Amino acid sequence: MSPDAPIGIFDSGVGGLSVLRHIRAQLPHEHLMYFADSGFAPYGAKPEQLVVERVLAIGDFFVRHGAKAIVVACNTATVAAIAVLRERYPAMPIVGVEPGLKPAAAASRSNTVGVLATEVTLGGKKFLLLRDQIAQSTGARFLLQHCHGLVDQIELGELDSDATTSLLRRYIEPLLAQGADTLVLGCTHYPLVQAAIERVIAGSSSRPVTLIDTGEAVARHLARLLAASGIARTTSDVPARLDGYTSASATALSSAFSALLGLDPPTHAVLADPAGAMLTG
Ligand code: DGL
Repeated sequence: MSPDAPIGIFDSGVGGLSVLRHIRAQLPHEHLMYFADSGFAPYGAKPEQLVVERVLAIGDFFVRHGAKAIVVACNTATVAAIAVLRERYPAMPIVGVEPGLKPAAAASRSNTVGVLATEVTLGGKKFLLLRDQIAQSTGARFLLQHCHGLVDQIELGELDSDATTSLLRRYIEPLLAQGADTLVLGCTHYPLVQAAIERVIAGSSSRPVTLIDTGEAVARHLARLLAASGIARTTSDVPARLDGYTSASATALSSAFSALLGLDPPTHAVLADPAGAMLTG
């Protein structure tokens, strides 16, 4: 695999852009393809089998487009399907995202950590095992809160609306009332509303609250994997390319790139077959 091959990064929608921004910052010479599966978002309340089918279809799409590595920039898809994706592509470096329970336990002084994520993530075996291990080794108490409806708000571009704020209050205030001084942003969409989250916290807690986002750690891990496999792109003779793909509207993805990251990459709509399983773009 050539260092000049692109890295495929995907999420159920625009949430993975919160990871892509760290990847661009740490690996500025890499060619990137971002796939927003907005036609099938949100994953978090969908049957696990559907999420598995989408992840495999997107993995196949990246491989057809010559990807040298894949980043599953979605906690839900990681919990549900990264093992199956790795089975299908055993030689491909594949990086997933998991809620940052370990750094959260280390950061918490009250030993009480709120975890915000989707229903699929919080119900996943992989996640519950991690929670039990870390609770046992650190004594931390984890309060799990699934945030139904929040991904939809963010997909709509409502980062700061009254409806988004009232959802955030409904999910966050009970965690603070139970003594949480650290909140894990366990869905890659949530860092995109960090400013609104901080406002909700400021309005209901006099104590400082730490927010944990693993985007930067994921980018570091990817950089290490590429270097170890000898496929990192380090030259800048040809500028790094970024292309956006989506299973919904290319215009909507362009707007998200511009509003969330101030970027204007070419974006392409990719068709799925009627069963939604095979991407044809
Ligand atoms: N960004 C995805 C995650 O990290 C959102 C999942 C969804 O679509 O519900 O879990």
